[in-house]
Amino acid sequence: MLVLGIESSCDDTAAAVLEIEASGRPVVRSSVVANQDRIHATYGGVVPELASREHILGILPSIEMALGEAACELRDISGIAVTRGPGLVGSLLVGLMCAKGLAQRINLPMVGVNHLEGHILAPMLEHTIAFPFLALVVSGGHTALYLVEDIGRYNRLGRTRDDAAGEAFDKVAKLMGLGYPGGKVIDQLSQRGNPKKLRLPRARVKHAPLDFSFSGIKTAVALHLQDNGASIAANDLAASFQEAVVDMLLRPTLEAAREHNVDTIALTGGVAANTRLRARLDEAARSEGRKLVAPSFKYCTDNAAMIALAGSYRLLRGERDSLGIDAEANLPL
Ligand code: KG4
Ligand code: ZN
Repeated sequence: MLVLGIESSCDDTAAAVLEIEASGRPVVRSSVVANQDRIHATYGGVVPELASREHILGILPSIEMALGEAACELRDISGIAVTRGPGLVGSLLVGLMCAKGLAQRINLPMVGVNHLEGHILAPMLEHTIAFPFLALVVSGGHTALYLVEDIGRYNRLGRTRDDAAGEAFDKVAKLMGLGYPGGKVIDQLSQRGNPKKLRLPRARVKHAPLDFSFSGIKTAVALHLQDNGASIAANDLAASFQEAVVDMLLRPTLEAAREHNVDTIALTGGVAANTRLRARLDEAARSEGRKLVAPSFKYCTDNAAMIALAGSYRLLRGERDSLGIDAEANLPL
C-alpha cells in the first residue's frame, strides 16, 4: 500500500510517499520538505500569515516532487494522511484543503493525523520498537513525555509548563544574535565550547517530577547577557545553556523510564536532532540497560513521512475521515 502524507502545521511544507509492505514494514519512498526558514529569519520567528502564503505556493509542487521521487502517480496511491492539528490554523488549512481536494477528485480515503502522533511514531520509520516504550517529544512547539502502550494509545506522563525546549533554543539564539531558528547553530557552536563555563539553573516543577520548565533558563541567559555582555565566548555560553537544557530533559525522562520499566526510550521532534542530547541520553539509557532509539535528522524535524506512517494504521484498517473534518489549532492527542 502507498500512502501520500501531507504536513503543513507550522513553517515546513512537506509531502511524502510511504510504502507499507505486506509484512507491515514501512519504507519511505520519498520525503520532500520545503523549508521557509529564510522568510521567517528576518522576523526572528514564524509569521503565521507569511507561513500560510508560502504553503499555498509550495504544497502542490511538493506533492508533485514527492510522487516523482517515489516514481509513482496519484492513481497508485491508496490513501492520504494529512496533519489536521495541532499547529497554526492558517498553515494547517492549506494542507488539509489540498488533501480534501485530492481525496474527492480521485475518490481516495483520507485520514486526519495529529502532528504529535507523527513525531511519536517517527522513530518507527526506521526501527522496529516493541510496546510499551517511552517517547520524549522535543520540538519548537512541544515538549512532553509519553508512555506509548500501542499505536493510538498514548499516555502523557509529563509536559512543559511554559516554553518548549526548541522554543528555549530559539529564544536564546535570538538573545545571542545567532538568527532563527537557533537550535542547530547553538548545537554547532557548543561543539567548540565549555559546558561548565557558566553555571545556569536546572529548573524542577514542584510536585510534578515528570514535568519540564524552560522559561527560567531563558531569563537566566538574558540576565547574564544584560549584566556581563560578551564576557563569555559565544561557544562557551551556548555549551553551558545546552548542557542545562539537556540535564533538564534527561532527569524526568530517566525517572519515567525507571518508573514504567521500559526497554526503549524514543527521542523525537526537532530538538532530537541535537547531538549532545542524543549522545547523553544514549549513554544514560545504556547505563541503565535500556536502548535509545532516535530517527535520522531528516525525520526529527517536521516531515510528511511520519504523518503518512501515523495515518497508515487507520487506512490499513479501512478507516477514512469525512471530508467535513476541520483543522484544529489545539487538537489534543
Ligand atoms: O519538530 P520541529 O521541526 O517543528 C515543530 O514541530 O516545532 O522542531 C523545530 C525546532 C526548532 O525550535 C529548532 O531550533 C529545533 O527544533 N532544532 C534543534 C536542533 N535542530 C532543530 N534544537 C537543538 N539542536 C538542534 N540540532
Ligand atoms: Zn513538529
